[in-house]
Amino acid sequence: MKADSSTIVRHLIPNRTPVREQASAYAPANIALCKYWGKRNEALKLPLTGSLSVSLGALGTHMRIQVADGDHFTLYGKRQTPDSPAYKRLFEFIDLFRESGTGLDIESHNTIPMGAGLASSAGAFAAAVLALNELYAWDLDQKQLSICARLGSGSACRSVAPGFMEWLPGEREDGLDSYAVPLTLDWPEFRIGILTLSKKEKAVSSGEGMTRTLRTSSLYASWPDQVARDLPRIREAVQNRDLIQLGEAAEQNALSMHATMISAWPPLLYWQPESVQALHQVHALRSQGLSVYATMDAGPNVKLLFHRDQQQDVTKHFPHLTVVDPFVGSAGFANAETDPV
Ligand code: PMV
Repeated sequence: MKADSSTIVRHLIPNRTPVREQASAYAPANIALCKYWGKRNEALKLPLTGSLSVSLGALGTHMRIQVADGDHFTLYGKRQTPDSPAYKRLFEFIDLFRESGTGLDIESHNTIPMGAGLASSAGAFAAAVLALNELYAWDLDQKQLSICARLGSGSACRSVAPGFMEWLPGEREDGLDSYAVPLTLDWPEFRIGILTLSKKEKAVSSGEGMTRTLRTSSLYASWPDQVARDLPRIREAVQNRDLIQLGEAAEQNALSMHATMISAWPPLLYWQPESVQALHQVHALRSQGLSVYATMDAGPNVKLLFHRDQQQDVTKHFPHLTVVDPFVGSAGFANAETDPV
């Protein structure tokens, strides 16, 4: 099969005419514990390595798609103009799935700030695919949904279901073996703390950042080996609900990714002074006996990993922390609401 996005989509979806008037869906954002950083195929968003994430419960994207006379996109209650980057990126993705001439009115609301390294695009593309699946009554399975979401944003393939998800990188050129599978579905003690240090749009997107790193950082050559070491440790820790093993491997993995970013040219220094300060604080808390670990993505914000019995101690030191139970708030999101024609 010729490997481009529209051919892959044509292979996966059975029809391009809406069966319903409207559909809505929710998908949580996710945070990688073992990061995806670098593509083997840019167009199909095929990764060079596997990755593993945890979803962010009630923090994600609610999306409603309605058949309309023309295309409209409302984000956070604000109409987006056709020349805005968010509008263009969304409809470029939607165009992969629809017959030309079908107008769609799309309303989206993120419960997390956009572009601050909190992976809001993952929830958005996953919610779009889940809503389209209902609107067109495709009845795709989780693997197919994950492949479709991946074509919007790589990490979105890990947002089509809640909980811990592992993205299998695959080997095929067409990417039909590159999708995310669910792991352990409950770890009631596990908590994620989000330390929002900046809500500003990042200067360099993760897509551009990974391409630059791959091209210009000589440290990038060591990244696949780092993942080969970290991914099995993280998977095993999730299976055994072992916070220390998980935290140690996830923090080392995140910092190794940042080492490749910092050594790119021009350098990708997503860290702000507050990020470094927070990392030092996490290390100080660990030396005092708290099991708290940090991870960071392509942005200045720091995310903490800990158990709920230490939440009080952690929030005492980070009073502005948003604490997320990954298993609360996303239940039933796959059962999108629909209106029959
Ligand atoms: O899917 P993208 O293009 O938003 O890239 C995500 C990259 C990281 O957030 C840094 C890592 C990851 O695995 O989510």
